[in-house]
Amino acid sequence: MTAPKVMFDEKQIAQRVVNLAGEIAQRISGDLIVIGLLKGCFVFLADLVRALDQAGLSPQIDFIRVSSYGSGKESSGNVNLTFDETGDISGRQILLVDDIVDSGRTMSFTRQMFESRGAANVWTCTLLDKPSRREVDCGADFTGFIIEDLFVVGYGIDYAEKYRHLPFIGYVD
Ligand code: IMP
Ligand code: MG
Repeated sequence: MTAPKVMFDEKQIAQRVVNLAGEIAQRISGDLIVIGLLKGCFVFLADLVRALDQAGLSPQIDFIRVSSYGSGKESSGNVNLTFDETGDISGRQILLVDDIVDSGRTMSFTRQMFESRGAANVWTCTLLDKPSRREVDCGADFTGFIIEDLFVVGYGIDYAEKYRHLPFIGYVD
């Protein structure tokens, strides 16, 4: 595999994250728990919550981990919850943060899970969306960038656990 090529550089990402936080703050006010889907969200979420602070929101932060991908590029098709220490969220507003909506299964599964636990509102935010790959009807409420069907890495996103450290969003062949 050749080195990842730049799709969005650090400056483009930073600008979009600030604008995205503004969009979120226009639609959500008051109590909020941001719940990140590990591991892919970790860089994006760190930037997003600081931008949310600038936009006037004071969210609590938690993480869960779900797995659908194996070690490679193809989804296994079913979603498993493998880490979850979120407490009682009944009556709370939740913003789920993921790196990519691809088939839509992860976001759809996770949204339904928190709705069934009695959240007052479950909002969803993704850094990237690949609508051409959708298999489950599930868009995010807030989307950073809509992209074509390319395999992306960097800014927290991996290919077989590599490239998460890259400061830009790149794509690999
Ligand atoms: P979905 O359940 O098919 O929507 O898959 C969502 C998850 O698949 C994301 O959270 C990513 O972890 C992973 N994924 C989808 N596309 C890519 C990609 O291009 N690069 C790396 N991971 C991806
Ligand atoms: Mg992932």
